[in-house]
Amino acid sequence: MSFAGRVAIVTGGAGYIGSTTAKRLAVDGAAVIVSDVNGELAQSVAEEIVADGGEASAIETDVRSTESIEAMVAWTIGQHGQIDILVTVAGGSARERASTVHGSSEGVIRQVIEINLLGAIFCCRAVVGHMIERGAGKIVNVASIVALQGSAGHADYAAAKAGVIAFSKTLAMEVAPGGINVNCVSPGLVPRPGTRVDHIPGTNYLGRIASAESVSSVVSFLASDEADFIVGQNYVVDGGRSLGLKGSR
Ligand SMILES: NC(=O)c1ccc[n+]([C@@H]2O[C@H](COP(=O)([O-])OP(=O)(O)OC[C@H]3O[C@@H](n4cnc5c(N)ncnc54)[C@H](O)[C@@H]3O)[C@@H](O)[C@H]2O)c1
Repeated sequence: MSFAGRVAIVTGGAGYIGSTTAKRLAVDGAAVIVSDVNGELAQSVAEEIVADGGEASAIETDVRSTESIEAMVAWTIGQHGQIDILVTVAGGSARERASTVHGSSEGVIRQVIEINLLGAIFCCRAVVGHMIERGAGKIVNVASIVALQGSAGHADYAAAKAGVIAFSKTLAMEVAPGGINVNCVSPGLVPRPGTRVDHIPGTNYLGRIASAESVSSVVSFLASDEADFIVGQNYVVDGGRSLGLKGSR
């Protein structure tokens, strides 16, 4: 892909998939804004990109706050004059707080929906006006296969990610006439380095473990001119995990 002259914001850019995506877009030539609630980590990802010869800067952004999101967008336009690509990666399932619906606290449910769903919605809302004015833009929202399958213990997260897919399809319809492509990527399990992985190969049809690069390469494609005719789709990147049970009849 060639993103020379393009400016990309990656939210959640300090995390595993986000930092890998930010690095991939930078290698492909984009000037990348690494945006994350963890400003220090975002800064070190941006520094790594620059050390590798890419162009990047970091901004601390909390996607639970529309003020923070709008500041990120205004800062990027102020620095670079344009936003060509938005990738919303900020989110997560709060795995450590897995709980049945009736056992979940209101606070956790609201927070999971706020970060994963409202965060993506408000980031998109903040950039589409600018992209429409320019007549071009690519938005890629990161959802999850739990949106398609459910996930016991993570109903709030599954609902939020299903909302991201439905939102993306609808936004895609609204903004495609303005030259903007909105699509989703839904990863299966992408274990962060250092986590237990021995059980994972058996859960997909490739029999191996996904890396963050498995996701970032698809994001990069959807953010590129190659994907100009793709509108409102959800790309599942899960080694076939969501196709059905292995060996079942
Ligand atoms: N890793 C997986 O197995 C997997 C599978 C499917 C989908 N996903 C999705 O991919 C995305 C990235 O996952 P990951 O595994 O890289 O997780 P991660 O925890 O490594 O990265 C998430 C990033 O989001 C940031 N973040 C959290 N709350 C934020 C907020 N309020 N504002 C701004 N940034 C915030 C975190 O600081 C972190 O850097 C998430 O949306 C996740 O739901 C992950």
